[in-house]
Amino acid sequence: MSAAPRFLAPFEQGLVEPAQSLLVIRPADALGLSGFEGVTIEQGFYPVATALEGAGYPVSARAEGRFGMVLVNLTRAKAENLANIARACAMSDGLVLVNGAKKDGIESLLKAVKKITSVDVMSKAHGKVFWFEATPMPEEWRVAGEMAANKDGFMTAPGMFSSEKVDVGSTLLAPYFEGLKGRVADLGAGWGWLSAQALGPDISEMVLFEAEHKAVEAAKLNLTDLRVRFEWADVLTLPKQLPFDVVISNPPFHQTRAAEPSLGVGFIQAAAKLLKPKGRLLMVANRQLPYERALEDTFRKVEMLKQTNGFKLFEASSPRR
Ligand SMILES: C[S@@+](CC[C@H](N)C(=O)[O-])C[C@H]1O[C@@H](n2cnc3c(N)ncnc32)[C@H](O)[C@@H]1O
Repeated sequence: MSAAPRFLAPFEQGLVEPAQSLLVIRPADALGLSGFEGVTIEQGFYPVATALEGAGYPVSARAEGRFGMVLVNLTRAKAENLANIARACAMSDGLVLVNGAKKDGIESLLKAVKKITSVDVMSKAHGKVFWFEATPMPEEWRVAGEMAANKDGFMTAPGMFSSEKVDVGSTLLAPYFEGLKGRVADLGAGWGWLSAQALGPDISEMVLFEAEHKAVEAAKLNLTDLRVRFEWADVLTLPKQLPFDVVISNPPFHQTRAAEPSLGVGFIQAAAKLLKPKGRLLMVANRQLPYERALEDTFRKVEMLKQTNGFKLFEASSPRR
């Protein structure tokens, strides 16, 4: 049985009274929420959003409106967290609670909020939950979380993969896109840089599959060609599609901080299912991740295109059925 989630502690100890309605920003799951009334959830990561919707909660990728109380769960991006705290203050008629682990930077956020208003704090489970009466936060906190052009001229926002500049692994893969033809899918497309490089004159249709809603919104701004479609989706649970000639991918390797090679293996299997019998996958991965076996098990032909200190690039064709 898992321990009670950290954010419940101030309620359990009677330090905070539940309000009539509660907005929960970025929860990883529904743990601890069943005791609250009027719960609304903001979650843009598709697998978590659909699981919470399945559990009966109203979920939106970006919440609006007014709530009796707002709980902000931290992500790994400080600018996104500051923006969420500022937005929470603008939406709460009462308290704002902030819940996070030390490794997610809860200490520095606590310090920043303490400079503005008085705060109550509890430490628990390698992290903290702190709470305060909603009060306007600096406008630059909200603005720092908004979409803006990065130094490569692409629209991104904090919290997306490699938001500030193009990922090195992706730059290594792009030269292999010369002359791609037909229908192309990009699995885990992020804000769309790889797809933008692959979109040559012989592509009839390109579909970007991405789980992070904000990244899909950014990709729509970065790719305005009418041949491009965008799917907010979980690559690991995609329904059957019209088959593709080529799949390109720089797959995710973790959803938490720890490396999870099984995610990349799931992406390789998804690619095989999406491809035509002679279709091919072009993929880049961190060098230490063990994908060779999964590629050999899933495709008849596998070639390592390149290996650098940090990355391995593969072409795999003719998926095994
Ligand atoms: C390594 S990044 C690559 C992003 C982009 N293709 C690039 O090259 O910059 C992997 C992407 O996969 C997305 N992702 C993670 N899990 C996913 C899933 N289950 N389904 C779809 N996309 C997912 C992440 O949000 C992230 O944008």
